[in-house]
Amino acid sequence: MKIGIFDSGVGGLTVLSTAMKIIPDAEYIYYADLDNVPYGTKEKEDVRKRTYDAVEFLYGMGVEAVVIACNTATSTSVEYLRKRFNIPVIGMEPAVKPAIETSNTGKVIVMATELTLKEKKYKDLVSRLEGVSIVESLPMPELVEMAENFNFNHDDVERLLNRKLEKYNLEEYSAIVLGCTHFIYFKNVLERIVPGNISVIDGNLGTVNHLQKTLQEKGNCIKSCGSIEYYVSGRKAVHGEFEKYLIYLKENNI
Ligand code: DGL
Repeated sequence: MKIGIFDSGVGGLTVLSTAMKIIPDAEYIYYADLDNVPYGTKEKEDVRKRTYDAVEFLYGMGVEAVVIACNTATSTSVEYLRKRFNIPVIGMEPAVKPAIETSNTGKVIVMATELTLKEKKYKDLVSRLEGVSIVESLPMPELVEMAENFNFNHDDVERLLNRKLEKYNLEEYSAIVLGCTHFIYFKNVLERIVPGNISVIDGNLGTVNHLQKTLQEKGNCIKSCGSIEYYVSGRKAVHGEFEKYLIYLKENNI
């Protein structure tokens, strides 16, 4: 069974890596729109068009489900895609609800892209929770760029995160939500620098569990023995371009 996984760039590889652990026998087709990354600083219509093109490409490759492994593309495009393609389209949104549910202070910080944070989907999600909770939104475009450049230098990351977080009294918060798949690469560094009262939460496992459940409900049986093919903005990727990211995630237990 073929599963398409799409992101603007290398962020969705963090979802692919989780998916390979839970559904190891699928044939994965990973599509990164590297010609157009980042999406987080673009206009909604632009992101929607590019996301549509990517999903159309994956659909043409015969995938039986697509994961939009990108919070930004999900927030701008998921409803639109579901109306146009007759296969399951699994989206991702910042895991704010689970973060609030496990929170004892009701205060959380959500890191995501500018576009995700400005979209109606996110605003609606937060407005349902506000009143009982405090949700602070923090855009982090620098982390997208660092991940794309394979810059996982822990000192650089630590310096950036400390600077971005210095305006918060972290003792008052209980969670930081990673609402962008590119940020998952930095999860271990973040966990190391924040005080112990803070949980770092992401939606990768929840998304893959949802994918698995959807496939089971559809009655899909996975008979192949597991493979990955990579595409970049509509063409076959150069061999080896993405494997180093999967190795990094594995070596760092992310
Ligand atoms: N990985 C994407 C997300 O989850 C977007 C990063 C970008 O292209 O700006 O939102």
